[in-house]
Amino acid sequence: ALVTTKEMFRKAYEGNYAIGAFNINNMEIIQGVVNACKAKNSAVILAVSKGALKYAGPKYLKAMVDAAIEDTGIDIALHLDHGPDLATVKEVIDAGFTSVMIDGSHYDYEENVRVTKEVVEYAHAHGVVVEAELGVLAGIEDDVHAEAHVYTDPDQALDFVTRTGCDSLAIAIGTSHGAFKFAGTPDLKFHILEEIQKKMPGYPIVLHGASAVSQDHIAICNQYGGQIKGAQGIPVEMLRKASSMAVCKINMDTDIRLAMTAGIRKAFGDKPEAFDPRGYLGAARTLIQELVEHKIDEVLGSNNSM
Ligand code: G3H
Ligand code: 13P
Ligand code: ZN
Repeated sequence: ALVTTKEMFRKAYEGNYAIGAFNINNMEIIQGVVNACKAKNSAVILAVSKGALKYAGPKYLKAMVDAAIEDTGIDIALHLDHGPDLATVKEVIDAGFTSVMIDGSHYDYEENVRVTKEVVEYAHAHGVVVEAELGVLAGIEDDVHAEAHVYTDPDQALDFVTRTGCDSLAIAIGTSHGAFKFAGTPDLKFHILEEIQKKMPGYPIVLHGASAVSQDHIAICNQYGGQIKGAQGIPVEMLRKASSMAVCKINMDTDIRLAMTAGIRKAFGDKPEAFDPRGYLGAARTLIQELVEHKIDEVLGSNNSM
């Protein structure tokens, strides 16, 4: 069914696992993700960015997600990723989304509280849950570029969720968006997560920038003409540890992009004479499904969560 994240997060918190949030942009990504979830009997969050809204449009995405629910019978939350403002939130709630993120992390604290509160009031009145963000992830996010991490302050986190009424909170503990997360040794500030968990027990935390960046997929890309150098993601053990703590939602987009590109490049390389899109898009879809099944087993622990 099409659901909010309320029950998902309650069960994930108690069961020490996390629900995967995968960014969707087209039919093959949706099918790869939900077929994996069906195979593993796992609930899932399908995340739609501003870029995805622009690329595919809310109507196509919602209609394909409805088809996915009908086809697989799994529980899906349809979520706005990095919502920039109330206008975008209203647009996707009108389209039938069940969860929205308002990302006010680039504002000063009081302005973040103000815009988040405004979105919470509107969304809750429409039966939709809200994720907010506190702290700044280093790296590139749309047009905003942050040089360094601004780790989430645990005292401020408690004040923020109390004042805004948001349903989940994305925090900064050293992850970042994209394929180049660490120049050297991976380092996440688990003591900050622990402190947040202590200050607000039972409250669901979200981890953005949480792709593991498969070196296998990068090797396939590069073997077939790609040029991806120096990419590094979050080690699987760290993600597993976060899932077992207060982190109830783990966001992955880069991993989907790499799997899709690896599948397409390999199909092109293996059969240069072929030109039926179902050949290479089908190969990409298969790699995405394998990736998500691996995530559910090894990273999230969300098998049999329905
Ligand atoms: O957090 C950002 C996601 O990776 C979405 O990226 O805005 O290019 O779709 P996008
Ligand atoms: P990655 O870039 O690590 O896949 O993170 C995705 C994300 O946080 C989407 O909101
Ligand atoms: Zn993100």
